[in-house]
Amino acid sequence: MSAIRPSRKRSITNIRAQKGGQPIICLTAYNAMMAEILDPHVDLLLVGDSAGTVLHGHDTTIPVTVEELIYHGRSVMRANVKALVVVDVPFGSFEASPEQAHATTTRILKETGADAVKIEGGIAQAPTIDFLTKRGVPVMAHIGLRPQAVRATGGYRIVGKTPEECANLKQDAEAVAAAGAFAVVLEGVVEPLAAEITALIDIPTIGIGASRQCDGQILVTEDMLGMFDRTPKFVRKFANLKQTISEAVKDYTGEARARSFPGDDEVYRGDKRAIPFPVKQSREG
Ligand code: KIV
Repeated sequence: MSAIRPSRKRSITNIRAQKGGQPIICLTAYNAMMAEILDPHVDLLLVGDSAGTVLHGHDTTIPVTVEELIYHGRSVMRANVKALVVVDVPFGSFEASPEQAHATTTRILKETGADAVKIEGGIAQAPTIDFLTKRGVPVMAHIGLRPQAVRATGGYRIVGKTPEECANLKQDAEAVAAAGAFAVVLEGVVEPLAAEITALIDIPTIGIGASRQCDGQILVTEDMLGMFDRTPKFVRKFANLKQTISEAVKDYTGEARARSFPGDDEVYRGDKRAIPFPVKQSREG
């Protein structure tokens, strides 16, 4: 049986070609349910290690494991049709050596079927990115505010407030581009610096808390859907799902307690022949 994917599936070549053109639209996804909703609308789905904080109640992304991201990546891939799917490489699974990074990233790609990996780190990770990309592992880099480094940097700090930070970040961007990254996430970077880096390097920049001049944008889906009361300044809430869910749950619990749910039409009376369960459509239609 042919495993050839539909031609509308995005590749890293398509993403690279959007440099300076149509904005590259990205969101995070951790499971098939959400990926199915997002996939038709975005260019890239990131199976981020933010799953640790967003879904699993951790304070940082540091405890997230390779196994957890493989689990989430496999789930996302079951719903993926169009978007390029990128899986984060978690803290502690790649930094020791390019060889360690190669073992981890090839495992992630083989076990999830995803298209690429994302690695946090600039100039220090450039030799690893070079090693991986020369061996067929597509890498998206992530520089600026690096959530995996919060213990080392003393917290979630915006980058680019001093001339030294600006010079370092430009070096990071140039180094990951030269090492073969197909795109780079700029997180928590002051606006003029993000715009300058976008003009400086020849690979797409994907901004989060950065600049609308970036070649693309990414947000954590649950942030932009309003699942949390507190969100960072750079998040725009495009919905208020926390409130919508709370209201729906209040309605359900009220009706179940009052025994007005289930209603007459919501029970099986046994007077008809088999009632078919809904059958899931295959992705190919
Ligand atoms: O883990 C994640 O979701 C990320 C994005 C916020 C860029 O790294």
